[in-house]
Amino acid sequence: MGPILPDKIDTFFTHCHLATMTDNAISVINNGAVAVTDNKISWVGKEKDLAGNIKKDTNIVDCHDGWVLPGFVDSHTHLVWAGSRSNEFEMRLNGASYEEISNTGGGIFSTVKATRAASKEDVYIQGKKRVETLLRQGITTLEIKSGYGLDLGTELKLLEVIEQLNKDSALHIEATFLGAHTLPPEFANNPDGYIDLVTEIMLPEVKAQNIATAVDVFCEKIGFTRNQTKKIFKKAKDLGFNIKLHAEQLSDSNGASLAAELGALSCDHLEYVSQKSAKKMAKHNVIAVLLPGAFYYLKQTQKPPIDLFRNLKIPMAVSTDLNPGSSPVHSMTLIMNMACLLFDMTCEEALLGATINGAKALGLAPSKGSIEMGKDADLVVWDIDRPADLCYLSGLAPIELIMIKGNIAFKI
Ligand code: NIG
Ligand code: FE
Repeated sequence: MGPILPDKIDTFFTHCHLATMTDNAISVINNGAVAVTDNKISWVGKEKDLAGNIKKDTNIVDCHDGWVLPGFVDSHTHLVWAGSRSNEFEMRLNGASYEEISNTGGGIFSTVKATRAASKEDVYIQGKKRVETLLRQGITTLEIKSGYGLDLGTELKLLEVIEQLNKDSALHIEATFLGAHTLPPEFANNPDGYIDLVTEIMLPEVKAQNIATAVDVFCEKIGFTRNQTKKIFKKAKDLGFNIKLHAEQLSDSNGASLAAELGALSCDHLEYVSQKSAKKMAKHNVIAVLLPGAFYYLKQTQKPPIDLFRNLKIPMAVSTDLNPGSSPVHSMTLIMNMACLLFDMTCEEALLGATINGAKALGLAPSKGSIEMGKDADLVVWDIDRPADLCYLSGLAPIELIMIKGNIAFKI
């Protein structure tokens, strides 16, 4: 029997099966029901336990035997940018590597050029379309990083766009400052000068404006060194930001161990992470955010060490990494499919990665990522036979209804 029914109920979900994503498992309740009061989940249990207690004026959502899951949490995206990099996609098809393109002025920097040149309105309009696309894929919580500005004005422009998207969209958006995404060419001969700009000018200003909750760094040969990362993270922590790291995507810079020692929420990518660093992640409760879209688009061959993460009980999140270069992927179901087929994750692991573990990677597990009493009523009704269908079907998002914080954001 579920907990005692609350006095006031606004919405009941009935005739459904629940995948609650609690206790590190899909945790199915067949023939279940969920009650929503204001913007929270107020009751979860078997429908038969309701036993005629539903008041006449309650809004009923009849799920017609469908499945209710928590909304997806996409914990790593670079969703605000201008321009396109399909030319680089073609260059890679002709044999150029991501690093080669980056070292000759393309890659992240080509998006920086286009983004610096674009108006705030244009960046917003493009971003809004992408947010709406992700919402229709069942994503109800989204992280977006800056990082295509690399100067104070453009980084703030991007963070302001993210703030506006959060205000204007039904889904919840967490903003991350990624000023240290790559070294801008104007600092090519003075990398320390750029680190000073990030730590002494950008970070305090972002804090003063209160427009990001976390700070990220791309720790890599084509990004920043471990020492440079350390300087940025120390300052970020002093200012009270959460920290997250692009770690060990293309080589082992030993960034994950640093991030773990400094109390990072997550380390992301991790194809080249060492056993020693993974042990540090486990010790410091760091979430592994896995990004199979980038692995796929860059035709990488070294997989992240999934078995090691399993053995060390490191929670694994999966995310789109939506960006114009390494992962122009706008679908969480496709990413879960890739997590299964490319990284050998189970459907259950992929589903946990797209829900509760994504929430953990953002520090939002107390309110997001599972169907539990007291959490935000972020619920998606799927027309599927079993949860694994969401990893198996490709090109479909069979959604009947999306509720975010108690409000219906989409209904068929
Ligand atoms: O997560 N690795 C760094 N950042 C992005 C790629 C950004 C880009 O290529 O524009 C990533 O893969
Ligand atoms: Fe990324």
